[in-house]
Amino acid sequence: HAAGSASPSTLTFAEIPHILDATTHVAEGYNAQVLIRWGDPVLPGAPAFDPNALKAADQLKQFGYNNDFLGYFPLERGSNTSTHGLLTINHEYVDRKLMWSGQDPDAIDTQTKEQIDYEMAAHGHSVIEVKKDGDTWSVVPDSRYARRFSALETEFTLSGPAAGHKRLRTSADPTGTKVIGTVNNCAGGVTPWGTVLIAEENFDRYFMGESLPAAEEQNYKRLGIKKPDYGWYRFHPRFDTAREPNEANRFGWMIEIDPYDPTSTPIKRTALGRFKHEGANVIVNHDGRLAVYAGDDERFEFLYKFLTKNKVDLANPANNKHLLDEGTLYVARFKDDGTMAWLPLVHGHGPLTAANGFNSQADVLIETRRAATLLGATPMDRPEDVEPNPVTGSIFVVLTNNTKRKPDQVDAANPRPANEHGHILEIIPPGGKGAQARHEAETATWMIFLLAGNPAKPEDGARYHPATTEAGWLSCPDNIAFDPKGRIWIATDGATKAGIADGIWASDVEGDGRALTRHFFATPTGAEMCGPFLTPDGTTFFCCVQHPGDDKDSTFDKPSTRWPDFKDGMPPRPSVVAITRKGGGEIGQ
Ligand code: FEO
Ligand code: CA
Ligand code: CA
Ligand code: CA
Repeated sequence: HAAGSASPSTLTFAEIPHILDATTHVAEGYNAQVLIRWGDPVLPGAPAFDPNALKAADQLKQFGYNNDFLGYFPLERGSNTSTHGLLTINHEYVDRKLMWSGQDPDAIDTQTKEQIDYEMAAHGHSVIEVKKDGDTWSVVPDSRYARRFSALETEFTLSGPAAGHKRLRTSADPTGTKVIGTVNNCAGGVTPWGTVLIAEENFDRYFMGESLPAAEEQNYKRLGIKKPDYGWYRFHPRFDTAREPNEANRFGWMIEIDPYDPTSTPIKRTALGRFKHEGANVIVNHDGRLAVYAGDDERFEFLYKFLTKNKVDLANPANNKHLLDEGTLYVARFKDDGTMAWLPLVHGHGPLTAANGFNSQADVLIETRRAATLLGATPMDRPEDVEPNPVTGSIFVVLTNNTKRKPDQVDAANPRPANEHGHILEIIPPGGKGAQARHEAETATWMIFLLAGNPAKPEDGARYHPATTEAGWLSCPDNIAFDPKGRIWIATDGATKAGIADGIWASDVEGDGRALTRHFFATPTGAEMCGPFLTPDGTTFFCCVQHPGDDKDSTFDKPSTRWPDFKDGMPPRPSVVAITRKGGGEIGQ
């Protein structure tokens, strides 16, 4: 399957065919090693995983469920070490039918408090220390850096313009500045001063909202808060909007964590807005300020950019402590002529005034979506990862799919009705690609990078490089990463609807091999692919297999796969995979 000398791609790995079975597959010549699984020890004293005796107290010390975002931080801080570092990993949500024997996933009214607390403990984030010996990565046991953040007991600080606002105050926290827990941590990003940014995505699903407080009714409705998918409110009344009307305003933010300081408090950064954050990725602007790009992952929601007021201090990481608290948030309006506008979400500007219920910047941030709609932002096909390419300086926007877009709602940036397969846009700031890109500008140009789907099916309307092979097409792009050469590595979520496993595809972004995607890795049945991230030298590719075995009729007792353990009685376990090249060298070459 090798690309051969005729292929215009710079990637030389042998493509794998589309494959959908019970295990993972990686290109020939590569090792794919399971590094850590749901239930494995993270904190000192964590007991061994026992799938038949799940206890919240144990889960608080063990690796959580459904690993999504992953970041690698070299040790020591500021170095480029690619054989020793910290991994920071999100635990987005839980799959209760695969966690407990006989559990009806919809029966949230009959779960015990221990089950509820277990679910809350299985959410959040982990920090682990990892080391490479020869070809093999392992978790350093009892590391002083190891941490577990959960929805059950971790305290987060709120900072920025909305912190302390009366709409963020609750009976447990009259200051409006301290929140217990985080939920639905999907993707994220890393900053150049060594912190991780993690998103709170579908937080609406955790709040009972059958009877909404009048003051927040419009706000909560826009976010979809109604009947929850989780029964947490039954034992933790703060998740019931009728009993604690402001608690839901304390979720839906981006969070910054310093993994190098195990005593640091994680911070919810309100200046970045409140919506269903997929993630956030940053680039240092030519003037030294930081640009943060982010998506709101829901059908017909928007794309955002935040520009800090102050400059990044790369020499002194501590000086960036408040960098993400001051700056301007913008939302994108795409025009059909290939240009676009970044519209500032600033209180007092245009319609963002008291007449529309915005009395301060805090109100604009708490109801970012409503403010963005009033400004005329472009409704997108579910923005997932949005990431500046650190080599070329352009921004890649992954739009995973939107089957609800009607023919009369099509525009040039969202060009297909009933978009089943998703697409990827590239945004180029004024100043062009490279170091002179002006991320502070209120305009930019954009183009389509690829339209996903099967190019052999004209009805898909797919568009790639014409040399894309039968294995090289993909569906539902979600997370992306860039290697040291600036090539894009695309993880998918939902490709099984198109009959292929979710996995990894890689492509050049410039030159003759642009948009020539090549298939590198396949996940087991029921899984999505998350968190791709490469070490600084490009020789290890980390990724997360999320919700393996989440197929129809698949249960704890009869799962569709028992990946990665394949032992009787052991359910499938979301796990982190480390991929290296046999004999060493850069991934993809
Ligand atoms: Fe959790 Fe937008 O995927
Ligand atoms: Ca995602
Ligand atoms: Ca990413
Ligand atoms: Ca997704």
